[in-house]
Amino acid sequence: MDRVQIFDTTLRDGEQSPGISLNASEKLEIAHQLARLGVDVIEAGFPIASPGDFEAVQAIACEVDGPIITGLARAQAADIEAAFGAVRDAARPRIHTFISTSDIHIKYQMQNTREDVIAQTRAAVAHSRSFVEDVEFSPMDATRADLDFTAEVIAVAIEEGATVVNVPDTVGYTTPEEYAAFLRGLYERVPALKDVVLSVHCHDDLGLAVANSYAGVQAGARQVECAINGIGERAGNASLEEIVMLLATRGDVAGVETGVNTREIARTSRMVSRLTGYVVQPNKAIVGRNAFAHESGIHQDGVLKERTTFEIMDATTVGLEGNDLVLGKHSGRHALRNALEELGFTVSGAALNTAFQRFKEIADKKKQVTAMDLEALVTDELREE
Ligand code: KIV
Ligand code: ZN
Repeated sequence: MDRVQIFDTTLRDGEQSPGISLNASEKLEIAHQLARLGVDVIEAGFPIASPGDFEAVQAIACEVDGPIITGLARAQAADIEAAFGAVRDAARPRIHTFISTSDIHIKYQMQNTREDVIAQTRAAVAHSRSFVEDVEFSPMDATRADLDFTAEVIAVAIEEGATVVNVPDTVGYTTPEEYAAFLRGLYERVPALKDVVLSVHCHDDLGLAVANSYAGVQAGARQVECAINGIGERAGNASLEEIVMLLATRGDVAGVETGVNTREIARTSRMVSRLTGYVVQPNKAIVGRNAFAHESGIHQDGVLKERTTFEIMDATTVGLEGNDLVLGKHSGRHALRNALEELGFTVSGAALNTAFQRFKEIADKKKQVTAMDLEALVTDELREE
């Protein structure tokens, strides 16, 4: 199977989420965990952004072994020099430089011209290559840009030595079919693109970041940029755990694999949530509290008989102890008996029927029935008999 590189941007795009600010020691703690998780690339920050970010990227470059360490830089000399200063001590340093190719950004944000973009791309990639061998180039807002012009800019970046070409869906605007067609269009227009790594970077404004990243992989991309818990600008980036588990679970159709140690996913998610203060929504795929929880009687009965009846992944593969049978008003007799057995009570026959009736009365009044409720319920039951 072909290998897809996982480029983690939790510490750069992820940190650009409103309200998140990580200090150097917090970033270092996360970076060590990302290395344990087995990501291929850590985008550690945006070194020109602040002295603190420079220091954090530098500390990660010096201390974290394994992944390539990269820092972001606009297509400007000062940014590139700061990025190099921060990553130079890494065993495998990369500079990631970017400039927009969409006319909206060229006209309103940068207030320059397409010719300027081509010239800046040429200079920025050449300047980066004078420092490091591994240079990633991103045409920002590519999915709202003219395909021919973006292809022209990418061809220049490759000519100057870019080793990775990343195609960002900066504002989460594209759809899977459109994105795949855009990437195929680039392959057709830039023959040299097949000699470098094509990368995808998708935002989740329409909830399509993972679907678009997957479409990109199907179109030939071999690097996916993503963030733990899907954090990032606005609605966030493609969620690392979702794309990794998608490729692991549906490798049969995807035909590619990653080098991620999926058993480290839950731990990494909890660490990022704790240090960023961003709570993970309960129903979030893979890492949400309910991702492996079952409440309804039919589902609980099914998984008690055979886990795969209602689970496509084993909770232990993402580093959890197991699935969770939550007792609520939809739960059935089978799950109740199982929960009671786990608490040390063997209840069957008429006693189980009475216990079940009582349980339903409690469940109608409470959102979730706890172990304490069950103990009270069974003790009462035994007292009656
Ligand atoms: O979303 C984006 O376009 C970016 C680039 C800097 C890669 O984050
Ligand atoms: Zn981004």
